This record gives sequence, structure tokens and C-alpha cells, in this order.
Amino acid sequence: MKKRVFILSIFPEYFNSFQEMGIISKALNGERAKDIEISLEIINIRDFAKNNYKSVDDYPYGGGAGMVMKADVLADAINLGILEEYKIKRENIHIIYPGPRGKTFHNKKAQALAREYFSTNRSTELVFICGRYEGVDERFIENYVDEHISLGDFILTGGELAVMSILDASFRFVEGFLGNRKSHIEESFQNKNIEYPQYTRPLEFEGKTVPEVLSNGHHKKIEDFKLEKGIEFTKKFRPDLLEEKSVE
Ligand SMILES: C[S@@+](CC[C@H](N)C(=O)[O-])C[C@H]1O[C@@H](n2cnc3c(N)ncnc32)[C@H](O)[C@@H]1O
Repeated sequence: MKKRVFILSIFPEYFNSFQEMGIISKALNGERAKDIEISLEIINIRDFAKNNYKSVDDYPYGGGAGMVMKADVLADAINLGILEEYKIKRENIHIIYPGPRGKTFHNKKAQALAREYFSTNRSTELVFICGRYEGVDERFIENYVDEHISLGDFILTGGELAVMSILDASFRFVEGFLGNRKSHIEESFQNKNIEYPQYTRPLEFEGKTVPEVLSNGHHKKIEDFKLEKGIEFTKKFRPDLLEEKSVE
């Protein structure tokens, strides 16, 4: 089944290496998952600019630093660039605007996005708006945006990195996208722990030896070691994860 993710950006080139390198590129090129094929449809917002200068931003009413992305240009990018061009109904897209006012992105949200938008039984497609400058005219947000997601309490210069982070983390939960099915189960944040320490060859490095249990091949002891170390590392590095708190 083919799934699309629409991304509105004034810098489409940002997504080139994301689509061309690493595991995600393999997945996007259909080399990984059998049932789901995902394509990124990158739409250049500037194509919907209304003047000869191809302006996508303008001065803010009331003054203030920086420029604001124009509501009419973004609306055209959605209505003409997606709904009309791809023959999709408004109710079949879910528009996410990454930005500081959203709930902070989390592994569970990544899993939920994969389940809701990249599984075989859902027809709704995701649209991401990459903000730039001081952000987007509020009227566009009111009329079009369905959800805000924040990467954290800091300010990026644009939404592109946020979109790639959200997609990268979510794609890992798509059935078959990771070659080794168990990888994401063992990763940090599953079961509230961060991951146990990892080692590779050489056995000796600058006076330190790989813990013996990992090289003796005793499966049960290795599993126990990983579990214990995961708990130890969580207490040491991220004790906040152990506090009971549900995250959407
Ligand atoms: C310079 S920021 C605008 C910040 C905005 N003036 C404010 O103070 O909230 C430009 C764009 O980067 C993206 N962005 C910035 N910080 C982000 C964050 N923490 N998470 C996700 N996207 C972010 C948003 O799309 C935003 O429209």
C-alpha cells in the first residue's frame, strides 16, 4: 500500500539527504517494508507566491522583529498544491504545524503517528507545514492546522529539521522499516528505560575491556546484564523517566 507525506517548505533541498541516505532512504525507496511504501511529496511554498518577487512572507501587522509567512500563499499551497493536484478531500489530510506551542514530541507520539498514518488500514495522509521567519499568519493556523508538535523548549530557525526528526522517529515504527524487527523494542524509552551500553571490537581499548558477560555467549546472562545496565543507566542519566507520568 502506498502512503504519502506532504511537506510544505520554502527549502525543499533540505530533504534531499534525508531521502537519499541511510536506513530511511532504503525504506522510502521500497527496499525495506513489503506492505507499506511511503513517499515524501515536497511542495515548494514559493510556487504559490502571488507576485513577481515570489514573496512568501510579509511585514507583521503591529510591527515587531522579522517577517511572517503569508496565509493566502500557504492556503493555496494546501488547496491547489495538495487537494486539487492530488485529488484529495480536506477530511483525508491531517495538517501538522511543528512549532514551540505544540506538545513536546516523544517516542510514544512517534509510535502513534506510525500506527495512525503509516499502517495499512488508514487512508488519512499527513501534511507538515515548515514554518520560517517569525512563523505563520495566525489566521492560516486557525483555518487549516489540525495539530502542533514541538521538538522541545528551544527555537529552531525553521520547521524542516523538526519534520525530519518527527518522520525519522515515526518511520522506525513502521512494520518492516527496520531490518531487524527487535531493534526498536530494545531502543531507549521503550519500557521507560534508556538503553544498556553497547560495545564492539576491539575487545581491549585504552585499558578497558568489554564486560566479560557479553563475550561469553551465555544468552540468559547477557539478557540479565542488558536489563540491569538499562535500569542502572536510567537511574544515573535519566532518573526523570522513572517518575510515573503518562505521555501522549
Ligand atoms: C524562528 S521559528 C519562529 C518562532 C516563533 N516566532 C516563536 O517565537 O514561537 C521558525 C519556525 O521554526 C519552527 N520551529 C521553531 N522552533 C521549533 C520547535 N521547538 N519545534 C518545532 N518546530 C520549531 C516552526 O515551524 C517555526 O514557525
